[in-house]
Amino acid sequence: MSEIPLPREERKKQFRALVGSLFKYVKPYKLRFAQAAVSMIFLAAIRGAVVYILGPVIQGVFIDKKLEILTLVIIGLPVIFVFRMAAEYINAYLMSWIGQKVVQQIRDDLFNHIHRLSIEFYWRKRSSDVMSRVINDLNNVQSTIQFIPLYGIRDILTVTSLLGVLFYINWRFALVSLVILPVTAVILGILGKKMRQASKESNILVGEISHKFQESLQGITVVKAFNYEDEAIRKFRVTNDKYFSRMMRYLRATALAGPLMEFLGSMILVAIIYLGGKAIFAGTMTTAEFFSFIAGFFTAYMPLKNIANLNAKLQMGLASWERIHQILEERPAVIVTSKPGNITQLAGKIEFKNVNYKYPSRETQVLKNLSFVINPGEVAAIVGPSGSGKTTVIHLLLRFFDPITGSISADGHDLRDLGTTDLRRHIGLVTQDTILFDDTVFRNITIGKPDASMEEVVEAAKAADARAFIDAMPQGYETILGERGIKLSGGQRQRLAIARAIIKKPKILLLDEATSNLDTASEQAVQSSIEKILGGRTVVMVAHRLSTVRNADKIFVLKKGELAETGSHQELLAKGGIYRGLYEAQS
Ligand SMILES: Nc1ncnc2c1ncn2[C@@H]1O[C@H](COP(=O)(O)OP(=O)(O)OP(=O)(O)O)[C@@H](O)[C@H]1O
Ligand SMILES: [Mg+2]
Repeated sequence: MSEIPLPREERKKQFRALVGSLFKYVKPYKLRFAQAAVSMIFLAAIRGAVVYILGPVIQGVFIDKKLEILTLVIIGLPVIFVFRMAAEYINAYLMSWIGQKVVQQIRDDLFNHIHRLSIEFYWRKRSSDVMSRVINDLNNVQSTIQFIPLYGIRDILTVTSLLGVLFYINWRFALVSLVILPVTAVILGILGKKMRQASKESNILVGEISHKFQESLQGITVVKAFNYEDEAIRKFRVTNDKYFSRMMRYLRATALAGPLMEFLGSMILVAIIYLGGKAIFAGTMTTAEFFSFIAGFFTAYMPLKNIANLNAKLQMGLASWERIHQILEERPAVIVTSKPGNITQLAGKIEFKNVNYKYPSRETQVLKNLSFVINPGEVAAIVGPSGSGKTTVIHLLLRFFDPITGSISADGHDLRDLGTTDLRRHIGLVTQDTILFDDTVFRNITIGKPDASMEEVVEAAKAADARAFIDAMPQGYETILGERGIKLSGGQRQRLAIARAIIKKPKILLLDEATSNLDTASEQAVQSSIEKILGGRTVVMVAHRLSTVRNADKIFVLKKGELAETGSHQELLAKGGIYRGLYEAQS
């Protein structure tokens, strides 16, 4: 990443915004949080109290040998410990609850958000990168939200309460143990910076790893057929090694924090034993006080260790939150005007006026000054060599993105003035790469019309020439298709996609190589039934096989993004241009 470092002020501002945005998610659970905080205070108080009474107990039982104190201890301590257990349970439970709840909300928002973004987002982002943020980073955030208050409030309170007790017993001694604080602050500060950076880098690599997994899983046929296994494995190993070393950088910093704290702690313990021993010999400190100090130290041990880890957790969580936040901050590239035009009715007239388009990631212009009109009810065909811009035209019609200059209109409304949902309600699409979901045949078809009845589904399947093979499947319309419809043939997949578009009975039907995988007989059957069902609707079809476009009212021949020829099949043949050349080559 070649990022220019921001000035300090700017970085601080960004950091605050980042923390603030996460805080917003926690805010609704203020009450639960307050309850957890109360139980944490309670717990800290109990821990302090236990330390406080330990000295007198030792004095009474073991030095003064008083039976009534022993009895009191046997009855009293279990009661205190039951309370301690309850408090510990309550604050751990509440914090996990809040952590899960927040993450559930974020996950929900993420899912929602990625559905609101434009296609352009998916050109830029790999799905595995998004996935790793949703799974891995969200996990880090969850753990941060859960543990930061536990470490940051419960444990700091515990240590504070212990310190309070120790100060109360003997302030000079307590002061010695405070030496630990500034030293740890400096150490943790230095380690924290390292952790955040390393954690950031390793998060990116997690995305890379899941990307490689996904690619091999999806492309397994090609991987195997081309003996690509070893190369794929080798490439994966490089990333995996890189991840290991980045992760170790983070873990080195983390692993150092705990033992360092422990070492500092034991040094102070030695100091207390030394000073305490001397003080007892000199008679300025009682044995009971001394034991309270030792007990205080051991009670503070775990909380102190957690506090040392606090920063590591926080840094990891914030680095992960930053990655999630980036996605939530993405804005759709296709902007819908605040008052979109109303198209409850659409006749189906389409007009391109001097449309120019270029993909953001490319220098070359894909569509150049493209102008044409398709009248309601007409069947228009777009033909042309591969890469000439046919699919781009189809996608522009769906307003997946907007032209750079020029305009596209439906029934005279500039698409920019229409709501995308409203527009797409009137459009049916069969994509070039058939897209099916891991669901039943029935539900794959009813994506086109969620409230469709069984009769409608059967009718659409019939029109798409899909009935025979659906009926032959073990559970018919209830058969689950598997990931990306892997259990079907290419032509079967395509027929389901056609049924999905037909059932919608759209005013505008866009067919991008919709019948390319069908045999000639099936193709003709599908075409004639589409004509029957969709009579009076506008159809824009893209086809390589020119026999499919013969009956079209208009044929647009695209060449390198420019409209090279227009006319009917006969007209274009008579013209003797590109179309005729293509046609002759095919027949
Ligand atoms: N998302 C994208 N980002 C960058 N360039 C793209 C993108 N999609 C398509 N292109 C480029 O735009 C040009 C037109 O692509 P398009 O998919 O419209 O061609 P096509 O006519 O549908 O081709 P085919 O007949 O092979 O489907 C091609 O050169 C292609 O490389
Ligand atoms: Mg295409």
